[in-house]
Amino acid sequence: MAVLSSQSHPSEPLSVPRHVAIIMDGNGRWARGRGRPRTMGHRAGVEAVRRTIEASVELGIEYLTLYGFSTENWKRPESEVNDLMGLLRLFLKRELANLHKNGIKIRIIGDRSRFAEDIRELLSKAEQQTSENTRLNLTIALSYGARAEITDAMREIAKKVASGELSVDAVTEDLIEQNLSTVGIPDPDLLIRTSGEQRISNFLLWQSAYTEFVFEDVLWPDFDRSHLEKAIDNFAGRERRFGAVI
Ligand code: IPE
Ligand code: IPE
Ligand code: MG
Repeated sequence: MAVLSSQSHPSEPLSVPRHVAIIMDGNGRWARGRGRPRTMGHRAGVEAVRRTIEASVELGIEYLTLYGFSTENWKRPESEVNDLMGLLRLFLKRELANLHKNGIKIRIIGDRSRFAEDIRELLSKAEQQTSENTRLNLTIALSYGARAEITDAMREIAKKVASGELSVDAVTEDLIEQNLSTVGIPDPDLLIRTSGEQRISNFLLWQSAYTEFVFEDVLWPDFDRSHLEKAIDNFAGRERRFGAVI
């Protein structure tokens, strides 16, 4: 496990969680606080994404999963959805070379059938081009909803049971995990949600069964390395029991 110096306790090494997941929330409120349109908040949010990826690499985090757009976010006004799609396009075009150069492996989870053709191509290109990288596993959840993910997994398994390819007894937790979009990714150790909201909003429901949650009052566009370190510091003080007696 990688270690770093904690800011709050400089002499003590801090355990870095292997997998950090983040619900990046508060772009709209950040913009409103400045009397600006919501899209300005999303734009500033992209900068925070860039900072967070960089800090994660520096801190030695192995897996970083970012919740960028939920299944439910399609219900937002068309103009906001369009702005978000434009930013996604721009991010993929502008950042891919840099992410690749820095050894970042990109994986997308979520229902990409709802994206425009050119965005789908950019997403595939990002995954293909970075598939051999090993420095940081960056998973971006886009048009993602955990209930939809679990439902899809159930449907796949049910088809195999109905056709006789699988027996009912073969339906195990492992099998369900193998049918989730996160197959091969360890469960998150730490989940951070910014903006002060304290809910999971349909993110990684199965995978976060034993995840430690940290809620930070900072709005996503203001999030930086110090907030990430603070959350890791908080995580390091938790006693994880996984249901057992320690
Ligand atoms: C998070 O910020 C970004 C997305 C969900 C795309 P919000 O847009 O939810 O910002 P608030 O919660 O309204 O402040
Ligand atoms: C969750 O934030 C989704 C993302 C951060 C991408 P929302 O802002 O959509 O969640 P609610 O509506 O506050 O639960
Ligand atoms: Mg929100």
